[in-house]
Amino acid sequence: MAEQTTNFKVTIDNITIEVAPGTSILEAARMIGGDITPPAMCFYTPLEGSGGKCRTCLVEVSKGSEKDPRPMPKLVASCRTGVMDGMEVKNITSEKVPDARAGVVEMLLANHPLDCPICDQAGECHLQDLGYEHGKEGTRYEFKRRTFERLDLGPYIQLHMNRCILCYRCVFAANQLSDKREHGVLDRGDHAQISTFIQNNLDNDMIGNVIDVCPVGALTDKTFRFKNRVWFTNPIDAHRNCDNPKCCGEVTLWNRGEDVLRVTARKNKWGEVMNTKDGKPGWICNTCRFDKKSMKDWTIEGPMKVSRHSVINQGHYQNAVKPHETISIVLDGRQPKLLMNIHDISGVNKK
Ligand code: SF4
Ligand code: FES
Repeated sequence: MAEQTTNFKVTIDNITIEVAPGTSILEAARMIGGDITPPAMCFYTPLEGSGGKCRTCLVEVSKGSEKDPRPMPKLVASCRTGVMDGMEVKNITSEKVPDARAGVVEMLLANHPLDCPICDQAGECHLQDLGYEHGKEGTRYEFKRRTFERLDLGPYIQLHMNRCILCYRCVFAANQLSDKREHGVLDRGDHAQISTFIQNNLDNDMIGNVIDVCPVGALTDKTFRFKNRVWFTNPIDAHRNCDNPKCCGEVTLWNRGEDVLRVTARKNKWGEVMNTKDGKPGWICNTCRFDKKSMKDWTIEGPMKVSRHSVINQGHYQNAVKPHETISIVLDGRQPKLLMNIHDISGVNKK
């Protein structure tokens, strides 16, 4: 007969929940949800081994457990600390955590170029949100920041290392989704950088997922770079029968009108790739992500659910009626001979 496991009682910011042994404080907080959930820049549920790098998820453990009620002497990373029975944790009720987290955010931003106005990730960047939430959108840093050349990782992905916070998510994603990992972290300390070994291309058919896991604008989709601001796009859930067995074929299309500007995996409220119906992470292949940029390629399901606090919500209308096409009315019933797409002919957006 299977052994029955007793759940652990943990109290986070005065809310008590029962969770299975082995659950981390972060996971328990996510089960409660809302403001008490610590932010996480490096932990990523579908990526085994992730977490413990960025320290944004720090919390105060004011009571270790029922058996040993002593508080933990230092703030701990909630993504890597398992709950104990009777544990009491403080996140937003802690006096120490907001200050420590603000320090961590400032540290993450020390070498960051703060180029949100021209960064493709703006509007969906967790570092940008954290900076504003902790009053660290400005900088006290007076030294020369470390800078790198932009690097093309194959035909579809560009690495903008200046923005990288070395969270290792892309390294885990490449390790776990492709058969032959070609990129990782080179050097250590202030010299550490994400790089492909002697600049190899990342040509694996699932490698585009590194773009989705990157919490900042360090890894960007070259087919979307500078095409639009994310809050001007209209995200739509869609799917297709993809013949790649590793691809779930369930995506979000980021449209401007009928133009599919970007295709991404679907993400949950924690910014992580959603599970599909069979409970597996919904990774998508390069073909779905980079080559299927026509509405005809997809079966449309409907508008993506956007949090009402997200800036992406501003142009997001449910049940919107598409306005009539007016070109032929203006042209007295004639169809235009030629319609030009400025993105195809403008060299301005190349870099
Ligand atoms: S490139 Fe992005 S995902 Fe990779 S380590 Fe840097 S910040 Fe993390
Ligand atoms: S999310 Fe916990 S250390 Fe980064």
